[in-house]
Formats: sequence, structure tokens, C-alpha cells
Amino acid sequence: MKTLTSNHIVFFSPTHTSAKIARAIGEGIGMGKRIEIDLTTDQDDSVIEIKDSVAIIAVPVYAGRVAPIALQRLQRLRGNNAFAILVALYGNRDYEDALVELRDETMRLGFTPLAAGAFIGEHSYSRPNMPIAAGRPDTTDLLTATQFGKDCLAKLKREERNGEFYIKGNIPYRLVGPSTPTAPTCTEECFACGECIGICPTHAIAWGSDRKIKTEVGLCIKCCACVKECPNNARIFDTPYTPMLHQKCAEPRNPELFL
Ligand SMILES: Cc1cc2nc3c(=O)[nH]c(=O)nc-3n(C[C@H](O)[C@H](O)[C@H](O)COP(=O)(O)O)c2cc1C
Ligand code: SF4
Ligand code: SF4
Repeated sequence: MKTLTSNHIVFFSPTHTSAKIARAIGEGIGMGKRIEIDLTTDQDDSVIEIKDSVAIIAVPVYAGRVAPIALQRLQRLRGNNAFAILVALYGNRDYEDALVELRDETMRLGFTPLAAGAFIGEHSYSRPNMPIAAGRPDTTDLLTATQFGKDCLAKLKREERNGEFYIKGNIPYRLVGPSTPTAPTCTEECFACGECIGICPTHAIAWGSDRKIKTEVGLCIKCCACVKECPNNARIFDTPYTPMLHQKCAEPRNPELFL
């Protein structure tokens, strides 16, 4: 087996579910030198070279595809033939063509796909009174992810990685139309602590001249990080998708692994 010196954990993960699964897979691989690359709020465009590594690359599914902003952020990576374990996190509806798209994109960036997995995370639009996959990934999901990491390592050691492996999804990818420009808003409970400003992946939130929180609707990707992390529950995103998904996607789905 070619000498691998490190294990990169790369993710874009506004509400942390992709990051949790990526780290759990990293545990399973258990390689000495672990390097975490969090692309969530990082707008730097300098190149990141990855060499002699197994890279876990985890992204959220938006509308059955890789979240467009995650695709943009991945463009900094140079794979140099490093092995990649591909992960799509979805909110218990479906991941459709996201894993196939992630495979194609990472190959363009120079990675050699080793394995892929679709995992379930609490939906961005999940709310306490209308949960959608609330609390996922749960302990069982994390154990599955860690075992998946071990299985990927075993595959590497068996030198089987050159064979192509099946990933569920279609080409051409699902078409996604333009989405209506909307964004979460602050309620009167907002005490202007400013915490949401720093966590917004697109820097759509800023102080207004009146020292109130302002949101640039055109920049918002509706990830709901600000809604879920506001310490005073003062951010709301009112979307008809919440009751619809709460009703239609109640049956828990299981991770699907391809290697
Ligand atoms: C704009 C948008 C579109 C989404 N589309 C889907 C989808 O097509 N299928 C699905 O199951 N979940 C979908 N989700 C839910 C996310 O995939 C899910 O919450 C994921 O866990 C988020 O990853 P993160 O926690 O790493 O940010 C969508 C979320 C957003 C914000
Ligand atoms: S985190 Fe919540 S309370 Fe703090 S500024 Fe943002 S909306 Fe207001
Ligand atoms: S303002 Fe929009 S992009 Fe920024 S954290 Fe909130 S939902 Fe996400």
C-alpha cells in the first residue's frame, strides 16, 4: 500500500451534521496525523494541496444536489490523486444525485474516490414543534460512520481501490430552478449579541446603522445556522417546507454506503 501520511477531514457544514459524520469516519480511519479543513465560513480562495492522504469530504444536500456554495468552496482543493471518502448529508427526504455529483466534482479536483456514503442529519428546516430527523446523526449513525471508516481503511489495505464502484444517483443531475430570495428574520427577542454574524457562512448578516441586525436576503442560502444557534431563539425562518417535510419525511431513513 502506498504510504499515506495523513487523514484530511474536509467539510462545509452550517448546522454541523456533515462535520459530525466526517469526524466519526475519521475516528474509524484512526490515522495519526489528522488535519481538519472547515470551509463553512471561510471565504479564502487560496489553494489547499492534499497529498498522500485519505480525505473525507462531507457536504450537505440542497435540493437533491450538492449545496452550490459547498461546491464553490471545494474548488480550493487540489487532490493530487489522494483517496477521497465522499459523504452527502441529507435531511431525511432524499439525496438524489448529490453523491454522484460529489464524485464527479472531486475527480475533477484530482481525487481518487475510494468510497461514498449518504447519511441523515437533522433537516435545516426542522423546528422543535415540527421536527424533521431531529437529533440525527444519532449514536447509531455515528457508530455506522466509524465502522464505515474502518471498512474504507480495510479496502485500502486490500489494494482494491482501483476498481470503479457503484454510487446511487443519475446523470444528468436533477435540474434545480432558481429559489425565491428569502431569509430568516429577527424577532423582538433579539438582544443584538451579534453571535449570528460570525456563524453565517455567506456573511449575509451584519450590523445595521441603527445597531440592529440586518440580513442581506440575496446572500442567504437558507442554511438556518443562525436560527438553530441563536442563544435567545430570536431568529425565525418561516417556510411552508417545514410542515410539509415534517409530515412527509417522518419515517427515519438509514445511511447508504457504497464501497
Ligand atoms: C436550501 C436547502 C435545501 C435542502 N434540500 C434537501 C433535500 O433535497 N433533501 C434532504 O433530505 N434534505 C435537504 N436539506 C436538508 C439538509 O441536507 C440537512 O439539513 C443537512 O443535514 C445539512 O447539513 P449541515 O448540518 O452539515 O449543514 C436542505 C436544506 C437546505 C437549507
Ligand atoms: S444571535 Fe440571536 S439574539 Fe444574537 S444578534 Fe443574532 S438573532 Fe439577535
Ligand atoms: S442568514 Fe441565511 S445564510 Fe446566514 S446563517 Fe442565516 S440562514 Fe444561513
